[in-house]
Amino acid sequence: MSQDHTVSFAVDGVAVVTGAAQGIGQAAAVALAQQGADVALVDRDPERCAETAGMVEALGRRALALGCDVADKAAVDACADRVVAELGPITALATCAGVLTENVTAEAVREADLDTLWDVNVKGSFHWAVAASRSMIPAGRGSVVLISSQAALVSLPSQAGYSMSKGAVATLARSLAIDWAKHGVTVNAICPTFIWTPMAAPMLEIPEVHAAAIRRIPIGRVGQPKDIGGVIAFLASPAASLITGVVLPVDGGWTAGEPELPL
Ligand SMILES: NC(=O)c1ccc[n+]([C@@H]2O[C@H](COP(=O)([O-])OP(=O)(O)OC[C@H]3O[C@@H](n4cnc5c(N)ncnc54)[C@H](O)[C@@H]3O)[C@@H](O)[C@H]2O)c1
Repeated sequence: MSQDHTVSFAVDGVAVVTGAAQGIGQAAAVALAQQGADVALVDRDPERCAETAGMVEALGRRALALGCDVADKAAVDACADRVVAELGPITALATCAGVLTENVTAEAVREADLDTLWDVNVKGSFHWAVAASRSMIPAGRGSVVLISSQAALVSLPSQAGYSMSKGAVATLARSLAIDWAKHGVTVNAICPTFIWTPMAAPMLEIPEVHAAAIRRIPIGRVGQPKDIGGVIAFLASPAASLITGVVLPVDGGWTAGEPELPL
């Protein structure tokens, strides 16, 4: 029996990255461009995507910076239409736009913060996945990568609202994966541990928090944005075409277990 064992990590076509101005979204845009994709860079303010656009263009790919509040369905639909008109049909999506509201115990959580977490983290992922599916389903191919969090799998103190929203994102990946598998569209969620980004920096810059995080991560370091960007590009590539509905920790082993028991 002769079989083709060659694999491709190339990402051709048009990728949309939300939250592309900084952090994990910026790294995702660079990793996708490095693998061959043209990239639409979506964030609240398109001018904040200028640095990312320069990085994508330096890799020889097209970049299109667009402003869009991911929580606003009409804005998402209009933005997706512009991507298709200016770059072509969407073949990959990485939803990196997200928010973390103030860390407080559940008794003190403001309802407005719960609404923000739900609107941006959950509905923002949902709206973009559906908008991208309008390109992917007719084409019979596509990959959607949702950014959940380690907080969907293991709880951290005073983050009930955030964790709840990230649990919903993980669940969304499984549901969409089942619904869209027959259309050739894969949907997965990534659960990062602490990653050095503007969102996490205020926590990681507290020496005790940084030291406690590293103690809890068997591999001995927190993540860099490219630790997530590389996994996003892999999941968007043909090499990952049999992976769908997976909720994937990228956490240096945090969720594998407790490394500190003196056995
Ligand atoms: N950094 C971490 O330690 C970490 C860990 C686990 C999960 N995550 C998740 O990864 C994702 C990216 O996180 P990050 O650390 O890069 O965050 P970040 O705050 O550094 O970047 C997030 C980007 O999303 C954009 N954004 C926020 N709300 C938006 C909206 N309504 N519409 C459009 N854009 C919006 C912001 O402007 C920003 O550019 C988030 O969903 C976050 O919850 C981060």
